[in-house]
Amino acid sequence: MELSSKGKWDLLSSPFKLGNVDLKNRIVFQPHFTSFGNEDGSPSETHRAYYEERAAGGTGLIIFESQATHPNGRISRYATNAWDECNIKSYSNVVNAVHNHGAKIFSQLTHSGPDTLMIRPSILWGPSQLDESPTTFRTKKMEIADIEDVISHFAQSARNMVEAGFDGIEIKIGHDGLLRAFASPFLNTRLDQYGQNFDGRMRISLEVIAAVRKEIPSEMPLGVRLCVSEFTEWGYDADYGIAMAKEIEKSTHINYFNADAGTAANYWMQIPPASFDEGSFRHITKKLKSNVEIPVISFGRIKHPEQAESILKSGEADLIGMARQLIADPAYAKKVLEGKDDEIRYCIGGNDSCIFQVANEQPLRCDHNPSAGRELIFSERLITKARTVKNIAIVGAGPAGLKVAEILALRGHTVTVFEKDNNVGGQVLLAQLQPYHVEIYDVIDYLKRATSKLGVEIHLGVEITTDLLEEIDAEVIVLATGSSPISYRHSDELSDKSEMPGSYRNVIQNIDCETVTTSDEILSGSKNPGKNVLLIDEMGSWDGAGTAEFLANAGSQVHVISSHFSIGSSLETANQVLFYKRALEKGISLLPSTKLIKITGTNANLENIHSKMGFQIMDVDQIVVSVGRRSEDSLYVNWAEALTSKQIFRIGDSVAPRMLRDVLREAYDFAFRFE
Ligand SMILES: Cc1cc2nc3c(=O)[nH]c(=O)nc-3n(C[C@H](O)[C@H](O)[C@H](O)COP(=O)(O)O)c2cc1C
Ligand code: SF4
Repeated sequence: MELSSKGKWDLLSSPFKLGNVDLKNRIVFQPHFTSFGNEDGSPSETHRAYYEERAAGGTGLIIFESQATHPNGRISRYATNAWDECNIKSYSNVVNAVHNHGAKIFSQLTHSGPDTLMIRPSILWGPSQLDESPTTFRTKKMEIADIEDVISHFAQSARNMVEAGFDGIEIKIGHDGLLRAFASPFLNTRLDQYGQNFDGRMRISLEVIAAVRKEIPSEMPLGVRLCVSEFTEWGYDADYGIAMAKEIEKSTHINYFNADAGTAANYWMQIPPASFDEGSFRHITKKLKSNVEIPVISFGRIKHPEQAESILKSGEADLIGMARQLIADPAYAKKVLEGKDDEIRYCIGGNDSCIFQVANEQPLRCDHNPSAGRELIFSERLITKARTVKNIAIVGAGPAGLKVAEILALRGHTVTVFEKDNNVGGQVLLAQLQPYHVEIYDVIDYLKRATSKLGVEIHLGVEITTDLLEEIDAEVIVLATGSSPISYRHSDELSDKSEMPGSYRNVIQNIDCETVTTSDEILSGSKNPGKNVLLIDEMGSWDGAGTAEFLANAGSQVHVISSHFSIGSSLETANQVLFYKRALEKGISLLPSTKLIKITGTNANLENIHSKMGFQIMDVDQIVVSVGRRSEDSLYVNWAEALTSKQIFRIGDSVAPRMLRDVLREAYDFAFRFE
């Protein structure tokens, strides 16, 4: 057995020279908007702490997120303004913090053009005023004076970035923004010198590149983030993207390309979720690299060092770009370089906190890394040893229980975990069985590795008793006993029997018990999938959507209803769109805004909640209920009074059932602060 991976990733850990900049390794933190900016457009202290964390984690190069170069080109209210000289000082704070750890930092410059995250943006600028724009907002067709203004603002922004101390500049002709919009034959229908043909469409990009190059030291690296293929039916393809690359390279002004793909219309190609296999974007970088002379940075769903090393070995790229992997684990580079691969916390590709937050102009977070975006207070580097070491028993080895165990053990406490099942993982064990959701198990895999390294004892198949707690002399008990699904079956013992008008309870309670089941029972195999299944999705999460796909894969005919406007209404947009595509291909019928009114024999009587129009689905032999969960809190209720000599806490779903990200963060914060 290999004990250490040190020295295993020769290429990944090898230095590289980009222009006049020496990078200590090949790991690049890809630019990503974080929504951390102050409202006056300056970088915040949150920015500083966030990027410093990745620099301290050993990253070779950090490319600071898209910077607005023009007052009219801010993608969000929380974008930072590179054009504004007043911000130079706060940019320097970020740069210096990164430099202190030996990493280099470039600044990505953009004008967001027709793309926006704002709900009520000001006038958006575009090459043309199209009938169909990438957003629901119409654009202003830019006048020549506007174009000249944009070019001079790019130059001014570059000047400010040099003054702030950045090591290089990257211009974004990427998946969003004005420059790609001009380059795109679909979006640019101009008939003047900035449109009409390929040369015209490339003109603004080339003029921006030349203007920026003039403002920065001649040896300073200047790169281009290039959308190689838009991947839409109407957009440009990789051949066109390569023609763009060649034209840009011909200018001799730039030192590298950073690969990219997709547009706002299909942003699952920009930020591919876990339904895309790891490495499935390699062909894009490979095509780019084989057509240009200058160095190329790879992108898209690269997590494992094996994958990264093989990209470098095959010559498909010179540097490995990672955004989400380093959001999930800021110390990734250090772990790889020091041969501690077994300590890596892998990104689960769910997009549920990073892009989900940012797309709603909320500060970036991470499902798997509770400190992401909160490094100022909750950095893992700020975890301290406990003043008094305590003997702590944790009941439940789901994500919340394991997370609390990890951090309490890290702080020096003696931690023992008791789990009544024979496996750790709780609900995640079932969630990972849903199609395209398997990577969620990386959360448990990481916590298993981490707790084992820290010497946490985990006892499986043990029903905890007060006698056992006395026996092990636990001073503190943390209950993480999870939750169970609501079924509304009349056989279930519900603590709360009150009438709930408008809920499903009255309908479901009158149905034959055997017909009604829960997603947990289906996924665990304790109930066989029916032939003709009605699934009620009121949670809008993977629970309903993923179980519907699981059933369809098992051969069931599936009908999914929800009173929400869509099925899977709380899924991150890319995941929801991709779910819809797959579900419809599999013949799953999706019926949003629909309620089950009653069951007559085997017929389900349904109603559109807006029109009140009724309809039936015949011969339903199974109803899968995904309407919510209930806390498993009986131990807490019983012990809070019985065990007065001990400190008792509860966390996670046992307090209130929530999403994975919420319970992990709660567990982390609890353990971080526990005294
Ligand atoms: C929250 C978020 C924001 C992003 N914002 C930017 C951005 O500002 N500029 C950019 O070029 N790419 C942006 N991206 C795309 C990433 O740079 C990267 O190409 C993409 O996430 C795929 O790589 P990954 O699988 O390593 O995450 C963003 C990605 C995420 C997750
Ligand atoms: S939120 Fe999920 S997809 Fe985003 S970085 Fe974290 S683990 Fe990865």
